[in-house]
Amino acid sequence: MYHAAVTGWGMYVPEHVLTNDDLTQFMDTSDEWIRSRTGIRERRVAGATETTTTMAAAAGRAACLKAGIDPTELELIIVGTFTPDQYMPSTASLVQHELGASSAAAFDLNTACSGFVYAMAVGSQFVQTGAYSRVLIIGADFASRFLDYSDRGTAILFGDGAGAVVLQRSEKKEGVLSIELGSDGSAGRHLTLGGAESFVGLNGARKIDRPFLKMNGAEVFRFAVRIMGEAAATATTKAGLTFDDIDLLIPHQANSRIIEAAAKRLQMPRERVWVNVDRYANTSCASIPICLVEAEQTGRLTDGMNVVVIGFGGGLTWAAAVLRWGATGVKRGDAT
Ligand code: ACO
Repeated sequence: MYHAAVTGWGMYVPEHVLTNDDLTQFMDTSDEWIRSRTGIRERRVAGATETTTTMAAAAGRAACLKAGIDPTELELIIVGTFTPDQYMPSTASLVQHELGASSAAAFDLNTACSGFVYAMAVGSQFVQTGAYSRVLIIGADFASRFLDYSDRGTAILFGDGAGAVVLQRSEKKEGVLSIELGSDGSAGRHLTLGGAESFVGLNGARKIDRPFLKMNGAEVFRFAVRIMGEAAATATTKAGLTFDDIDLLIPHQANSRIIEAAAKRLQMPRERVWVNVDRYANTSCASIPICLVEAEQTGRLTDGMNVVVIGFGGGLTWAAAVLRWGATGVKRGDAT
């Protein structure tokens, strides 16, 4: 068995900043309410020429550059997203084309906001078994186009963006050390984005509704706090570590109160928890890789550190992984 080291990382967020005060121009809310309930101050929203694909490709390109590999060397691209630009082709196939990654297989994976960690779990299997040695994992979402701005309890929470990592074959124990995935479809109704059910087949009446993201905030809140604690603990144990060995916790950035409650359960001090929900809000599949990029860029994440990443989202699904940062066992320019 090989190991799947993280050798490159990149992110993309749209330029347009939408502040809480901007929201008050067309919604009955306030900066104070949003900040006190969620920790969010502002979010980025995609512009007229931006799509899930363009954001995903920008993050993926940056990750390849950081890894020092040409996209033509990629063997697999997985995009975690629940807001693809169309049902088909997949976002991953469109990204493959944009990057010129002509040798790569490509597919999307939809587990809502846990999609990046799920995709990393899947991609790491190909690397660990030796099937592939260069895999691009992207998390990208354009949730703002599915927000109902008259639903103030949901619309305030989301922003757009993309993040990516390159996984490469390593001879050393580093990169993805453990994974913990799960799903509870019985609670799926608490977080939904309709779509296909709006278009009934030949034998039914045709009803075309614009699909919007709908959420039972209180239920998702309770679920998130519980599952983040449980999944992080299980992933850490699976990696043969304890919380004392964890240098950084990167939770899905949904709400600072959820993050604080989960960290408290895990007895993880604030300085070991990465939070940027104040600046980007919930960027869905992009939130965890954006955190990884920022933590590395600010020097908070360095070689040899153990990081727990935990995603949760629609499904309801959850996904946690322990990563050991660094790529000392990767042979540069290795052949498959
Ligand atoms: N501004 C002002 N008032 C508001 C707003 C707003 N934006 N939104 C709701 N309110 C009002 C409500 O109408 C309600 O008023 P009422 O008491 O007169 O009826 C009051 O504020 C309280 O509303 P609650 O919904 O009880 O507020 P709560 O404290 O639960 O916070 C929130 C709501 C922020 C949505 C919270 O429940 C939450 O964060 N839930 C989890 C969300 C989450 O993690 N989503 C992850 C999605 S991941 C994915 O896969 C997509």
